[in-house]
Amino acid sequence: MARELGRGHGSGKLILCGEHAVVYGHPAIALAVDRGTRVTLSRREGPTTIEAAFSDPRLRPALCAVLPEHGLTVHIETDLPIGRGMGSSAALAVATVRALADWRGEHPTAHAVFASAFDIERVFHGTPSGLDHAVSDRGGVVSYRKGPAGPELTPLPTPSWRLVVLDSGVAGDTRALVAGVSARRPAVDRALARIGALVDAARAALHDPDALGPLLDENHALLQQIGVSTPALDRLVDLARRAGARGAKLAGAGGGGVVLALVDDPAPVLAAAARAGVPAFTAGVAPTREDR
Ligand code: PMV
Repeated sequence: MARELGRGHGSGKLILCGEHAVVYGHPAIALAVDRGTRVTLSRREGPTTIEAAFSDPRLRPALCAVLPEHGLTVHIETDLPIGRGMGSSAALAVATVRALADWRGEHPTAHAVFASAFDIERVFHGTPSGLDHAVSDRGGVVSYRKGPAGPELTPLPTPSWRLVVLDSGVAGDTRALVAGVSARRPAVDRALARIGALVDAARAALHDPDALGPLLDENHALLQQIGVSTPALDRLVDLARRAGARGAKLAGAGGGGVVLALVDDPAPVLAAAARAGVPAFTAGVAPTREDR
């Protein structure tokens, strides 16, 4: 077997609340999840090649934004659903930057990881906000706002609850969904402002599932109002609530992607999802940079 040179990990993310409203300056809350992507670099002769259980024509050009074009095997393992708003490309970008640093014996700052992972994310997404890879590298829970130079993150204390994530099996098109909301303004402005206020309340209620659950439910209703949910996502939200979730909502741009459910006990929601043939898994909060 080829000698391993370096390895790195990056976490996936979920938007707990505030998606879409955040585009218009309202706050949102995101968390790094305890699922993610591992990259292992080893030596090979010839051009750098990628080993992964999924294929994407952007993979090699994206990773070679920071890796050498020759001499490496890049082995990728992930337990994140791809293209579901869980930050799979950002987790890959952070894992790659950390694997490269591991190979070089470096301990890069958050700023250095952010800048390098951005080079990879730009190949995947053009002009992403940078939120996904900032959260992936930092870990924990953050509230954030759109600032002139990218997302402005405020760390929040890590709660002890867990989530169940239900996968719709369909990718949502973030760009088209954001454009759709923009086209429905000003009719949706009140709903967007209400989402912003709800995020402030969720921030205060972050450690209190009794208060947080209903806020997540209300956030989903507002996302329905602004036109980004689908009948399939609404069914997943219903399924989770009937199985005892304290609150449930779509997470991310909508149109597909995933639903998150706040639970005391994941088992009944996972069992209900299994009976309905819906892929589902638990997700906790990933440790922060300081706690790793
Ligand atoms: O599903 P994702 O991770 O692409 O989330 C999009 C979040 C939006 O608020 C809809 C867009 C944005 O840029 O914040």
